[in-house]
Parts: sequence; C-alpha cells; structure tokens
Amino acid sequence: MDNSLRAESEKGMKDHTFIIIKPNAVKRGLIGKIIARIENKGLKIIALKLLRLTRSQAENLYEMHRNKPFFGYLINHITSDFIVAMVIEGKEAIKVMRKMVGTTNPTEAAFGTIRGDFGLSITENIIHAADNEENTLREMKICFTSEEILS
Ligand code: CMP
Repeated sequence: MDNSLRAESEKGMKDHTFIIIKPNAVKRGLIGKIIARIENKGLKIIALKLLRLTRSQAENLYEMHRNKPFFGYLINHITSDFIVAMVIEGKEAIKVMRKMVGTTNPTEAAFGTIRGDFGLSITENIIHAADNEENTLREMKICFTSEEILS
C-alpha cells in the first residue's frame, strides 16, 4: 500500500483488507465464485495476483501462528500451489470480509458464508482474510509492491 492509501486508511476515509484464496479453492475453480461475492457486496478489488508463496513468505504471513501445533500443515498447504492474493477496498472492509468469509472451521461456519458454503477442512479452509488494520498492511506487503495497488 502506498503512503496515500495508508493515509486514507488511517484517516478512516477508505477501509482496506487483504485476502488470499487458498490453493485448494484455486484448484477447485472457485476464484470466480468468490470474486463475484466480493464484488456483489460492493467491495472493490484494488490489487489482484495469482502467485505461489515461498516458505519464507508463508512463514511471515502466518508468523502469529508459529508456535501452534497446526503451523506446519498451514505452511505446507499455503505453499503447495498457486494462490490468489487481493487487496479489497470499501466501507468497513475488514469486518465485512470476515463476516463474508465465516468462522475458521468450515464445518461450523454458517451457510451463506464462503467457508460455510465451500469448505470442510480447517487447514484448507478456502480463504484467508486479515483480521485487523495492522495485519492488513503487513500481509499485503508480502504479496504486493506499492505500484501494484491501485490508488
Ligand atoms: P486463516 O484465516 O488462513 O488463518 C490461520 C489459519 O490457521 C486458519 O485460516 C486455518 O487454516 C488454520 N487454523 C486455525 N486454527 C486451526 C486449528 N485449530 N487446526 C488447524 N488449523 C487451524
């Protein structure tokens, strides 16, 4: 995110979030269905990339889970194949995206949410969405340069 976007975020003028469509969802051909939900809600995609994370990028992304027992499974899955990374802009983008995504475990996520409708596995839970502003900024920098984000 460039400085003007960061300033907009900090002033509360525009809200941003960072999301990843995970490898299992990309392989299952769910990119279009997930993007349609985001756009139908009125959120705007301001950066989008199909890429494969290195282990080092993945470990940075999930640094807060480094000591959790599931960390290895998480890194193995997220680096196993291509992902789609996006920066999303819109009113209360972090809160709205996390509601749209649903709870972490897809077997418990409500129907109508992305995880509730498309997933069963907690590791391969279809989509990641940043949980706060600080993580949004940190995570988007792992996948995008400031020039790759529309402003
Ligand atoms: P995500 O939103 O990408 O953020 C961290 C990920 O860790 C989460 O989705 C799940 O894929 C995974 N995760 C969280 N809790 C557990 C758990 N108890 N067991 C296995 N994986 C988990």
